[in-house]
Amino acid sequence: MNILLLSGSPRKNGNTNAIVQRVAERLKTNHNVEICRITDYQINGCLGCNHCQSVLDKPGCVQDDDVTRLLGKVMDADVVLYGTPLYGHSYSGQLKLLMDRHVALFKFVGGSDKAVDEMEIKSFIENRSVGLIVSCQGPGENNTELVQMQFRKFCESSLAFCLGTYIFPWCSPDVIGSQFSEDTLNQIVCDVEAQNK
Ligand SMILES: Cc1cc2nc3c(=O)[nH]c(=O)nc-3n(C[C@H](O)[C@H](O)[C@H](O)COP(=O)(O)O)c2cc1C
Repeated sequence: MNILLLSGSPRKNGNTNAIVQRVAERLKTNHNVEICRITDYQINGCLGCNHCQSVLDKPGCVQDDDVTRLLGKVMDADVVLYGTPLYGHSYSGQLKLLMDRHVALFKFVGGSDKAVDEMEIKSFIENRSVGLIVSCQGPGENNTELVQMQFRKFCESSLAFCLGTYIFPWCSPDVIGSQFSEDTLNQIVCDVEAQNK
């Protein structure tokens, strides 16, 4: 399988990238694995212009930054894992910009003037297996619910298949890699391998 890991941490040698690296090392024995540190790319915020919704056969974003290239990688992958440090119980700002831009990958058939759950959606990533990896300094519980819900809602809107949300708690910014749960790493590998039909 082609597996894409998109890491949304601005800290090159931080926890999130260390976890993403560990996941990649485990998966690359059987698969083509690519890691993209999204902070190496130019990612502008969505303009909300809705132009992408008038172009049905491709993402069709008006902006000329690196997102078209990144979304191309998302479309080409069998599995996409998004990594982020927890910032204010949510994605990093850098990853949030990219997640918003995914709107170009799903089209609201018949217009986008209804409530999201009432709209018919055509998606370039329908049934694509996607997962979220989160590193945070605090606990998993009563801390990461918002980002997990955000990601699950993203999957619902994009019709992607949610492999899971994988939380690495107690990741102090000063003690990289001290507490990474082998169980959670194993779970990610196991869930990804299960997609290899
Ligand atoms: C701006 C900011 C906000 C943060 N918010 C939270 C938070 O809400 N909950 C938490 O447990 N950790 C929070 N943290 C800690 C980081 O999520 C945690 O240390 C993470 O592992 C850092 O990942 P990195 O090494 O990839 O940067 C925050 C850190 C920063 C810089």
